[in-house]
Amino acid sequence: MDILRTENMTKRFGGVVANNDLSIGIPEGEITALIGPNGSGKTTFINVVTGVHPITSGKVYFKDQDITGMEVNRISRLGIARTFQKIRLFENLSVIENVLVARKSFYKSGPLSVVLGTPSFRKEEKENKEKAMELLKLVGLEDNAYDSPKGMAYGLRRCLEIARALALEPQLIFLDEPAAGMTRDEFKVIMNLMMILKEKGITTLLVEHTMDFIKAVADWVYVLNFGQIIAKGTFDVIEKDPLVLKAYLGED
Ligand SMILES: Nc1ncnc2c1ncn2[C@@H]1O[C@H](COP(=O)(O)OP(=O)(O)O)[C@@H](O)[C@H]1O
Ligand SMILES: [Mg+2]
Repeated sequence: MDILRTENMTKRFGGVVANNDLSIGIPEGEITALIGPNGSGKTTFINVVTGVHPITSGKVYFKDQDITGMEVNRISRLGIARTFQKIRLFENLSVIENVLVARKSFYKSGPLSVVLGTPSFRKEEKENKEKAMELLKLVGLEDNAYDSPKGMAYGLRRCLEIARALALEPQLIFLDEPAAGMTRDEFKVIMNLMMILKEKGITTLLVEHTMDFIKAVADWVYVLNFGQIIAKGTFDVIEKDPLVLKAYLGED
């Protein structure tokens, strides 16, 4: 079953058709990769599906619920999380605080009990801290919990971004170029993390350029070029597709 699907989704920015008639299914519990040259519409796909940009035409369904045009926060509360191509962290908060802030929508205590520090709030805070620590452990940042993210290595900052997305306890996560600019070793951390997410039953849509990475983790691949799907299938199938080779090599 597809946890998310788009039907004839089109997104225009003025005269630019960034997504052109996309009908994409993301199978539940698996890793789907969305690849394509720069400017082919990958980030736009994520932005439209998660409600950041309004759709021009078409439909988006999450677990058969029509979420077309729904507001960003409502979509994230349904269980869809994402990371950004450009890392967004709170630089003045510690690593663990960055994760805790992301969990703030889980707080049940009202503002008054927060101010008064009531026992129910303190209990809740303790649980959130444990959960945040668990996530930091998952992404390999447990020893950095009380550090500032400012001076941290790029790969670790990426991992923190992913932990923040996971703090929402999503069923579906969009990772926009999580391994961009990473070293080979950092790569392995992300790959490993993706396999752990899969074991936990979380569905991933991965936007990535590195073919070795996609080959290693993706169950399914969609290839975009100029906003359109030019191929879909397993990596082994799309890698030999003449349209895909042409799009990447830029031959005529
Ligand atoms: N907010 C925006 N405003 C105007 N044009 C945009 C915007 N976002 C993306 N585009 C355009 O849409 C096309 C697809 O961009 P994008 O989705 O970022 O591609 P990719 O992530 O595959 O590199 C590009 O031509 C880009 O310039
Ligand atoms: Mg992009």
